Amino acid sequence: MSKLGGLTAKWAKSSPFKVLPREQWARQRPTYKDAEPAIIDAALQRSQRRPTGNWYAFASSETIRKRPHGASVGGVEVVAWRDMDDTLHVGPATCPHLGADLATGTVDCGALICPWHGLRLEGGREFGWKPYPAYDDGVLAWVRLDRIGGEEPTDVPVVPARPEGASMHAVTRLVGTCEPSDIIANRLDPWHGAWYHPYSFAHLDVLSAPPADVDLAEEQDRFLVPVTFHIGRFGVPVVAEFSAPGPRTIVMRIVDGEGTGSVVETHATPVGPGPDGLPRSAVIEAVIAHSDRPGFVHALRARPLIAPFMRGAAARLWRDDLAYAERRYRVRSRG
Ligand code: FES
Ligand SMILES: [Fe+2]
Repeated sequence: MSKLGGLTAKWAKSSPFKVLPREQWARQRPTYKDAEPAIIDAALQRSQRRPTGNWYAFASSETIRKRPHGASVGGVEVVAWRDMDDTLHVGPATCPHLGADLATGTVDCGALICPWHGLRLEGGREFGWKPYPAYDDGVLAWVRLDRIGGEEPTDVPVVPARPEGASMHAVTRLVGTCEPSDIIANRLDPWHGAWYHPYSFAHLDVLSAPPADVDLAEEQDRFLVPVTFHIGRFGVPVVAEFSAPGPRTIVMRIVDGEGTGSVVETHATPVGPGPDGLPRSAVIEAVIAHSDRPGFVHALRARPLIAPFMRGAAARLWRDDLAYAERRYRVRSRG
């Protein structure tokens, strides 16, 4: 029996619930010896070399409606809106006439109107204004910024594989003082889970981690982590797989247990410098839940699986991870 099969067998129960024995936080097995900085660093370096085609995820699809939405990506102010057909448009937020912030404009019959003198932008090139390539993957909105990315541009972004069939999604966005790589490095350290987030994880074990090699095929470049998500004293044991399909994306996929096929995509997008001159980065976290259980949509409401993430109960988890990333940034910028 495979390692994974063994785990499945161990955990296969008719109910995904488990009552967790009370475990003292300080009595857990320390993980610092396994969490070798060289392994995390090598995984980070490999992720940083993967191509992005200069695409940046900057918002959840559903936050962009038929009104202007402003965002800063890599120090570039962009404005996004949808036209009458729901097509996503993204372009510079500075009006080419006298510089008004187009994110404070109005969308009328699918066109963006500048608030200062009424310049009307239909989404094409107009009056020196030029749209950026935009992409809507149904969960996230992306913009391609070739001057910021500096890579070979591609027609579409690298969107991680998502669950097929019935699925529900929710997107959270937080901004911290760090660089995108700090956010990715945090996720490439699965060993901190049960120590740093005892309110969410228990019985975390890193079953396999990629070696500290500089070169490794993407298929082999993953961490396999049996973990129990818990909500109060109830726990849902799953096996999670972490991989980095790009330099600013981490995917956690449930590969065994309740909600198999569900993914949590973490996108780290540079925002630009803050008023203090330090970099700001946005963490855009998309939870895309999937279950083969019948009545999945109802099940989502009733069962713990990944639903607490979708309800926003994971806010603390993500705030703490952002604090980790900010701390990492401070420590390395001192050094
Ligand atoms: S500043 Fe936009 S139309 Fe004048
Ligand atoms: Fe974490």
